[in-house]
Amino acid sequence: MSAEFTRRIFSGIQPTDHMHLGNYLGAVRNWVGLQGDEFETIYCVVDLHALTANQSPEGLRAAIRELVATLLACGIDDKRSILFAQSHVPAHSELAWLLSCVARMGWLKRMTQFKEKAGKKQDAAVHGLFAYPVLMAADILLYKGTHVPVGEDQKQHLELTRETAGSFNHTYGREVFPLPEPLILGAATRVMSLRDGSSKMSKSDPSDYSRINLTDDADTIALKIRKAKTDPEPLPERLEELDGRPEALNLVTIYAALDKAEPAEILQRYAGAPFSTFKPALAELAVETLSPITAETKRLLGDQAHIDAVLADGAARAGAIAGPILAEVQEIMGLVRL
Ligand code: TYM
Repeated sequence: MSAEFTRRIFSGIQPTDHMHLGNYLGAVRNWVGLQGDEFETIYCVVDLHALTANQSPEGLRAAIRELVATLLACGIDDKRSILFAQSHVPAHSELAWLLSCVARMGWLKRMTQFKEKAGKKQDAAVHGLFAYPVLMAADILLYKGTHVPVGEDQKQHLELTRETAGSFNHTYGREVFPLPEPLILGAATRVMSLRDGSSKMSKSDPSDYSRINLTDDADTIALKIRKAKTDPEPLPERLEELDGRPEALNLVTIYAALDKAEPAEILQRYAGAPFSTFKPALAELAVETLSPITAETKRLLGDQAHIDAVLADGAARAGAIAGPILAEVQEIMGLVRL
């Protein structure tokens, strides 16, 4: 008989710079919607993962608190969910080492994110960037997470988590870990850059015009959408006709996600419209959705003591789940527990 696991969601986001529209539509909005009776929900600001990117210590500290404020402003409810920072629960680092002795070099060498981020200088990349997916596996497995809501770009990392969990279970001959399922939901599972429809919207793009940040004001959002790369053709009637027009497809997808509709419906509404009509409509919708979040983030950031109290409470609740699971793993692997 297979083991019964609590239906438990775990997901994480890095505090590098500001949260952007891709993070929101691809992940965080789904995190908010998944809060309820069906799952226990645990959301983590993965500050240890952020150490793999170049950021000043002060910049990182500010980004951690800003991200907590943004997540609360997006609708993460710190009473219904556990919201905490990874480094406040040391068991993440401990389990990451234990799983490093399970995950294979070959699996890690296949990771496309490492290849993209390290570029041609793989030997100069820090070891943490290579080991990143093992820490991510530890994040999820430390809570025996069963479901992981993420954008499409995290699919391969989730596959490695499943392989690691399966290998652990096989080696020790019992079903210790569930094989976590990715939840890749909504119209915008991969939001693309506003400057280049073939690359993902990301915090690491040097051009701020490539992304909409959740901290942007209304004028900045409108300007970025006005400047977004497009082509001279009007919008077609059917989705298939957007083949070969990645920038147009991206804007239609963003519109659909913001409107909680299907891209095909948006095309029916705007068939034949030029971008000079579509872009202002998109800007208006984006501002309408994002400005309450931006305003609430600002308000919350005015009260750092509250943010830190949320983090402390989240760390205590996360630690209470993580502690016994780490102890179970240590025991199973043969460490002496006193
Ligand atoms: P991060 O911080 O890069 O992104 C956070 C979430 O946002 C999603 N996302 C996107 N979705 C759609 N379009 C985009 N352009 C886009 N860019 C980012 C990501 O898929 C992610 O869901 N490795 C993770 C953080 C992590 C984690 C975990 C996630 C660490 N431990 C455990 C889940 C479970 C990351 O770098 O996400």
